[in-house]
Amino acid sequence: MTVITCIDDFKRIYRRRAPRMFYDYCESGSWTEQTFRENVSDFDKIRLRQRVAVDMSGRSTATQMIGQDVAMPVALAPVGLTGMQHADGEIKAARAAEKFGVPFTLSTMSINSIEDVAGATSKPFWFQLYTMKDQGFVSSLIQRAKDAKCSALVITLDLQILGQRHKDLKNGLSAPPKLTLSTMANLATKWRWGIEMMSAKRRHFGNIVGHVQGVSDAADLGAWTAEQFDPTLDWDKIAKIKEEWGGKVILKGIMEPEDAKMALQVGADAIVVSNHGGRQLDGALSSIRALPSILDAVGDKTEVHIDSGIRSGQDVLKAVAMGAKGTYIGRAFVYGLGAMGQQGVTKALEVIHKEMDVSMALCGRRRIDELGRDILKIPADFEGRWAD
Ligand SMILES: Cc1cc2nc3c(=O)[nH]c(=O)nc-3n(C[C@H](O)[C@H](O)[C@H](O)COP(=O)(O)O)c2cc1C
Repeated sequence: MTVITCIDDFKRIYRRRAPRMFYDYCESGSWTEQTFRENVSDFDKIRLRQRVAVDMSGRSTATQMIGQDVAMPVALAPVGLTGMQHADGEIKAARAAEKFGVPFTLSTMSINSIEDVAGATSKPFWFQLYTMKDQGFVSSLIQRAKDAKCSALVITLDLQILGQRHKDLKNGLSAPPKLTLSTMANLATKWRWGIEMMSAKRRHFGNIVGHVQGVSDAADLGAWTAEQFDPTLDWDKIAKIKEEWGGKVILKGIMEPEDAKMALQVGADAIVVSNHGGRQLDGALSSIRALPSILDAVGDKTEVHIDSGIRSGQDVLKAVAMGAKGTYIGRAFVYGLGAMGQQGVTKALEVIHKEMDVSMALCGRRRIDELGRDILKIPADFEGRWAD
């Protein structure tokens, strides 16, 4: 039995167990992958201040995100095709998040449907919306999320058009996988994945197949998805969706102070500083480098969350000490799920929690509300000096 001590341990097991096309789908960024790499490496540039002789008893990582109690300031990010990484992946990840006491966000492009996840959990989860050209379909997704009692709508703003990830094209990514010779050769080595997948509730995009006329198989769906994302999305449309939803709204994919101010104007309850894990605009700053200027612009007026590049509890601590009210993990939970299902997600959350708790204590702090930039050493040129 492998002893798991850090998130990277899961990645190694996940790589062995998951079909190559799904591992590559997760472990890629767009184009040169510069932003994908820097999301992670820029966290390392921030250092922590070690403090001593401070009473570290009675610590807690509990706090709130958008007014909801969370065991630590970490949510599971929306990740498409999670149910291809492991059979019934969305259900398993949602259950692990619920038990741990952190929010789970279901992607529009999930395999398990909104109703599947609602039926398998007992607390509200968050639903992530991609805006599509088909307004009727968007409205029906919103209604289904309301019926499922989702407690927040996360609207993703940075995917009106798809960034290119080379490996997805080369692997012919599809859900379920199309059986070419090379896919079959690879699947033959992933017998455990295959056996579990045979009894999975679904193998297609559960929020879409059966809910949109004319979409009944994956081949149709690929074409439909490429055509369907709405290139005309603007702030007026976002305001209308917010009104239609009527509940808490989180706007995801904000990287510039000007956009953060616009998000404020449409009344976002929170924004997520995110570059989609380096999967969209390659060459964008890492999220952690973009965070300070966005906090300066809107940090006292709305909740600022962050994702992209978080692989440890120390990364969470750094982001929160900098001023973020919450963080999201994408790949870090997928590695756990792909390696060992629900237990792997639970364990990934435990790893991150422990790293955060111990680091917080060694920085001389006991609670989230005691965290501030004074526990960090941030390089003087961290945000970069760019010509206007
Ligand atoms: C495999 C994969 C699929 C993703 N699918 C979605 C999605 O369907 N909707 C969305 O808003 N973001 C999606 N994202 C972006 C994540 O929500 C999040 O922004 C990103 O994973 C954060 O970076 P990290 O993986 O370094 O933690 C996806 C990310 C990955 C890795």
